[in-house]
Parts: sequence; C-alpha cells; structure tokens
Amino acid sequence: MSRILSAVAWPYANGPRHIGHVAGFGIPSDVFSRYMRMAGHDVLMVSGTDEHGTPILVQADKEGVSAQELADRYNRVIVEDLTQLGLSYDLFTRTTTRNHYAVVQEMFRTVHKNGYMVERTTMGAVSPSTGRTLPDRYIEGTCPICGYDGARGDQCDNCGNQLDAIELINPTSKINGETPRFVESNHFFLDLPAFVDALGDWLRTRTAWRPNVLKFSLNLLDDVRPRAMTRDIDWGIPVPLEGWEDNPTKRLYVWFDAVIGYLSASIEWARRSGDPDAWRQWWNDPEALSYYFMGKDNITFHSQIWPAELLGYDGKGARGGAPGAYGSLNLPTEVVSSEFLNVEGKQFSTSRGRVILVRDMLARYQPDALRYYISVAGPETQDVDFTWAEFKRRTNDELVAGWGNLVNRTASMVHKNFGEIPAPGQRHPVDEALVAEVTTAFGRVGELVGAHRQRQALQEVMRVVGEANRYVSETEPWKLKTDPDRLATVLHTTTQAVSDLNTLLAPFLPHSAQAVHEALGGTGTFSPQPRIEEVTDLDDDSRHYPVITGDYTAVRGTWQPKAIVPGTKVDKPTPVFTKLDDAIVEEELERLRQG
Ligand code: MF3
Ligand code: ZN
Repeated sequence: MSRILSAVAWPYANGPRHIGHVAGFGIPSDVFSRYMRMAGHDVLMVSGTDEHGTPILVQADKEGVSAQELADRYNRVIVEDLTQLGLSYDLFTRTTTRNHYAVVQEMFRTVHKNGYMVERTTMGAVSPSTGRTLPDRYIEGTCPICGYDGARGDQCDNCGNQLDAIELINPTSKINGETPRFVESNHFFLDLPAFVDALGDWLRTRTAWRPNVLKFSLNLLDDVRPRAMTRDIDWGIPVPLEGWEDNPTKRLYVWFDAVIGYLSASIEWARRSGDPDAWRQWWNDPEALSYYFMGKDNITFHSQIWPAELLGYDGKGARGGAPGAYGSLNLPTEVVSSEFLNVEGKQFSTSRGRVILVRDMLARYQPDALRYYISVAGPETQDVDFTWAEFKRRTNDELVAGWGNLVNRTASMVHKNFGEIPAPGQRHPVDEALVAEVTTAFGRVGELVGAHRQRQALQEVMRVVGEANRYVSETEPWKLKTDPDRLATVLHTTTQAVSDLNTLLAPFLPHSAQAVHEALGGTGTFSPQPRIEEVTDLDDDSRHYPVITGDYTAVRGTWQPKAIVPGTKVDKPTPVFTKLDDAIVEEELERLRQG
C-alpha cells in the first residue's frame, strides 16, 4: 500500500471549461485515482479553481464585475461541471480561501528567509497622465518574439512566451491609448539558477516519465534565469514582508500561488477531516508518491517552478537553508502531461466561440460517453482530434453495441430463464478460458493505468469485452432450453465475466459501473461519486463556497475478480447506454459553426 497524491491542475475561474480542458487534466487524473484506490492505495486527490492573475481580471473587466464576483461565478460553474463528470476529488477548493493565502505566505517567507528570493529593480509602466502604476495586463503592443500585434505586458497569447511590458514594441495603454512611461519598480525574483543542480539531479532520476515531458523539462535547464514572483497588479495574494504587505499594487505572481494550491488544498482537506496533520503523510514521508496531471502548456510550472519553490522551502538549493513549519516537502514523483485535444481539425478557441463546453456536452450526452471517448482516444502522448462522427461511432459501436449489449443480453437471459443468477454445473474448457481471460486482465490493465497508458488499458478491457461477446455467440445459450444444466453454466459464466469486466471498467466509466452493478442484482455503492458541499471558510465565517468532496473508501482493494452469488435476483434490464442518432453529427457541426 502506498500513499498517493493525485495533484490535478487548477482550472482558471474565468469561464466555463471546455472538453479540451477536462481531456488534459480531468479525466486522466480521475481514472488514475479511481484505479489506485481500487488497487488498495491511500489516494488524496486535490485541486481547485485558480482565481488570481490577469486571466481573471481581463474577464472581470469584460463582464463588468469585480474579480471576486467573477471568480465566485465561475468557481460554481466549474464545480458543477466537474462533479457531473464524476471527477472524484477528495477536495476541490479554490485559491481565494484564507487557508490558501496563509500557506502561500508561509511558503514565500521561508523561501525568502532561505535566501532564494532576490529583490531586483525592473522597469514598470506608469500612466504619464495620472502618474499611477499601469498593471501589465493594461499594456498592449507587438510581441518582440513572434511579431503578434495583440501581445500583453505579461505574456503573448500567440506564442505563449512570458514578456515584460518594456519588451513590447509600440506599447500602449489599453485604458486610454497613451504610451506608458517606464519607471523603476522593485520585484522579488525566484533565484532559479540556485536550483539548477538540484533540479538536474532530481530530473535525471525521473526515468519513468513520458519521454517528451522529461526531455522538455531537462531542456529548460539549459537557460535558467531568475524569474519574477511578484507583479504590479492589484488582484492577488499580498507579499508578506514589511513595506510590501500593505502596498495595494504589488501582489504575488499567480503561478507562484497556484502551484502551492496542491499543498494548501491538502492542508484544508486535513483540517476539514478533523485531523489537521493528516496531510503530512502525503507530503513529508519520502515514500509517498505524487502525480501531477495537466495539459502540456503547464509543464514548465510543474517540472521547474514548483519543484524550485519546494527546494527553496526545504533549503535544498545551492544556498542551503532549513525547512519551515511544514517540514521537508516532497518533490513530484511524476509530471503527467497530456497533449492537446483539437476539435474537427482546429484548435479550441474560446474567443471565437469554437468550443464544446463540458456543460453543453453533459446536457445532451451521458458523462460516461465523453469519459469513454477521452480515455480511449484522448491526447495521451500526441495531439488528437475530437470529431463528432468519431464520438458517435465510438459511442454506438463500442459502448452501446459492444459493452452495453453484452450487459443487456446477459441480464435479460438470466432474468428470463432463471430470474436469478444460476449456480453453474460442470465447466467446459471454453468456460474456463473466458474466466481465465478476464482474471488475467486485472494485472495487465492495472499496470497500464499505473503507467499512465490509459488508452491501451481501456482498449485491452474492450478486447476482453469482445471475447465475452464471442463466447455468448459461440455457446448460443438461446438454443440450450432443453439442457438447463448447460444453460445455467453458460449464463453463470457470462454473468461472472460481465461482473468482473464491470470492475475493470469502473475507473473509466464510474456512472455506468453503478448501473451495471445494479442490473446484475447488486445493491449498495459499487462506484462512489463525488458530491458538492457548501462550506464556510475555515478562517473567516463570513465567506462561503462550494467544494467537491466524497467518500470513496468503499472501493478500497476491490481491483480483483469477485465471485458472483447464485440466487441473486436479476430483474428485466433497461439499457445502460443511449444509442446516438446519426443526426447528432450534423446538428453538432452546425452548433460549432455558429459559435
Ligand atoms: N490555471 C492554470 C491553467 O489553466 C493551471 C494552473 S495549475 C496550478 O493553465 F497548479 F498551477 F494551479
Ligand atoms: Zn508572441
């Protein structure tokens, strides 16, 4: 048994999420966590909404609300979407909790005390007419790297590079079009060069990572410079130092705070569980494992910035130092990054309305249909294309005709012939072969999910589903009316196979797993689901917010075949999966065109 931290990337609370987002961080992390719990491990799965920084401010301006109002609005939307998808977080919280502020400030103070935050003077923009600081997001100009016209003072959305406002060509203020004046401004820089050796030593032991993620991360070490961890911005966590704390235009950089969310959410979970030190088992014990799930645009922050923050906190950079109150914190075991999901041959684009929102998808289709598609054909190691034709084909041919049909005809034949699961008679080699096939799948499929090869894992389960369907076609139970003993054996064997295949599919298809369990006469929770709970901020009675949480202990150690019980009553089944009409393809393509 291991302790496993499933650290899932924090979606920005600046709008509803599209299916590309959940393909990157959401579904893979949930499949992994559900499997690991079933395999008997002690999993802590945490995340929340990322609510600071430019992305939130820009959208708040657009919607004419305050940053906090905007974050409140989309935190709730995102919480609802992720819950409906069945993502089994132990705690999904947010970065505007008082607990998060306190943890971030403790991290900053200790990293600073250990000598890894260096203060430097940079050139910041001010408005010549008002003399006031112009936050980075209010400056626009041409990107010095790619030449894109609409680059912002903090980054270029076209090439994705981080920028300083002063680097922009023809910088102008978005507020009134004037050319900003640049004056000296002090900032704290994380001294990344002091961590190059420690980061290199650590990365070189990470041989199990996906090769492209490891290569990208190692390459980052070739050109390492100090990186600003504060911003001239008025929305974010105050810098916890004298002279800085009360300055309303200096805040910690959003990425400095967001990655600390993994730790602060673990601490919040522990505090809410009634054992405030429980989080330490996942963070201080060097034997504990931690897996970080995200899309590839987040790799730098998880394989360099976050480990550097942790090394600085632990006092393990070139300047030494000592850990703060949290003790020595574990570096990530693995950064599990996905590639991008495109849609019908092009990139998702929220601004152009070229998106498929999670909530629209869930309003029209079963959550497990989306989970199935992403698990079997998602962007695991390369960019892939989501097409509606392929979504319809996979749903109808594989989920409905393959798995759903097997479940349905099995329950139906058992119900019609016996009304309950029959006891088997003498087994034939063909029966033994199917049972053996299903039994050995547990080891193989588990290994693949553990190695983050979910596509292959699910394809393997579906291959065995095909074998079970073939068994039914070959044994022809509908022709065995005159041989009740053989009929009982065949239907017992089929039901056993369906029951165990359902266990194998549960991490991928948690909603239908419960339905299949009940179709075979099962009762109680087979596949637990997350729930939304309205909570009060632990350190401020006036603040309330929804969290995702759940009790997933029922599945502990269930990753193995389980003998079905003869005599269990089986009712006439209703289909578990909905077949999709051909017309949905054209309808959805039209929706996409309209934006
Ligand atoms: N909000 C960021 C994004 O959507 C991800 C943050 S992951 C975190 O790209 F760990 F830093 F929070
Ligand atoms: Zn650019």
